[in-house]
Amino acid sequence: MKISFLGGGNMASALIGGMCGRGFEATDITVVELDASIRERLRASYGVAVLAAPDAGVFDSDVLVLAVKPQQMKAALVPFAGVLRETLVISIAAGLRLIDIGRWLGNMGVPYPPLVRCMPNTPALVGAGVTGMFAAPGVDAVGRELAGRILATVGSIVWVDDETRLDTVTGISGSGPAYVFHFIEALETAGLAQGFDAASARRLAIDTVLGAARLAEASKDSPSTLREKVTSKGGTTAAALAHLAATGWHDALVGAVEAASARSRELGEQFGQN
Ligand SMILES: NC(=O)c1ccc[n+]([C@@H]2O[C@H](COP(=O)([O-])OP(=O)(O)OC[C@H]3O[C@@H](n4cnc5c(N)ncnc54)[C@H](OP(=O)(O)O)[C@@H]3O)[C@@H](O)[C@H]2O)c1
Repeated sequence: MKISFLGGGNMASALIGGMCGRGFEATDITVVELDASIRERLRASYGVAVLAAPDAGVFDSDVLVLAVKPQQMKAALVPFAGVLRETLVISIAAGLRLIDIGRWLGNMGVPYPPLVRCMPNTPALVGAGVTGMFAAPGVDAVGRELAGRILATVGSIVWVDDETRLDTVTGISGSGPAYVFHFIEALETAGLAQGFDAASARRLAIDTVLGAARLAEASKDSPSTLREKVTSKGGTTAAALAHLAATGWHDALVGAVEAASARSRELGEQFGQN
């Protein structure tokens, strides 16, 4: 199988690192990347083939992963317009709609091009991402399984049956790591304010989030049951949660996800303009 990447930056590197040794061969992978230092790093780290521009072999790939920035995509796809035929195209570009990618590819000569759109998140860089995925009608079961297997090398995957839901995925898990980092920052600030040294404050904050997430993952109880179990009436956690509730924290977070989703829709329209 021939798998090509267009763009070899952070997210492509994470995917290539995840794929090598997990059911995919480095010798099957070619990366088209403008930056010579990135090309050299990918070649040296993973043994993949690297190119500065797409060649006939790339046009003939079984899978093409689009991993350039959304604002770079239209220009990057110019050499591919009207050239691809049977290739499964997987876009990881935030916000870009499949209708626009399909148009830039010259619709691949078929009524329903085989396009998959994904929204990964930055924990993919450490193999702990979660990716929302949508397959266009032109993707068959084999293509869907293959796309899922590629993204699953850097974390879990969640399929959606309507492309617009990827805007919500962007609001929850795409931007979500920033909300969690913000939460960690707040815990850290509290630790510093109570006299802890910086290293201890950070350790307490990060490991609390890490441990709670692991417990939520491993437990049969829902997160709300887990929360109730650590909240004794009149106890310390109850005092903290009452304070959080008074600030409207829960609704603020729901509103934040809605704001991110709305911005994702706006950016998709903006990037997709001719
Ligand atoms: N990083 C994330 O957390 C994350 C999360 C979700 C989705 N994504 C999506 O993943 C995609 C890649 O993001 P990233 O953070 O990996 O970006 P990145 O590090 O900037 O990687 C993109 C790479 O593509 C190269 N490039 C640009 N035009 C090209 C062309 N025509 N041919 C070949 N290579 C080209 C860029 O080179 P130059 O720098 O020289 O232009 C850059 O090295 C984006 O669409 C982004 O929306 C990223």
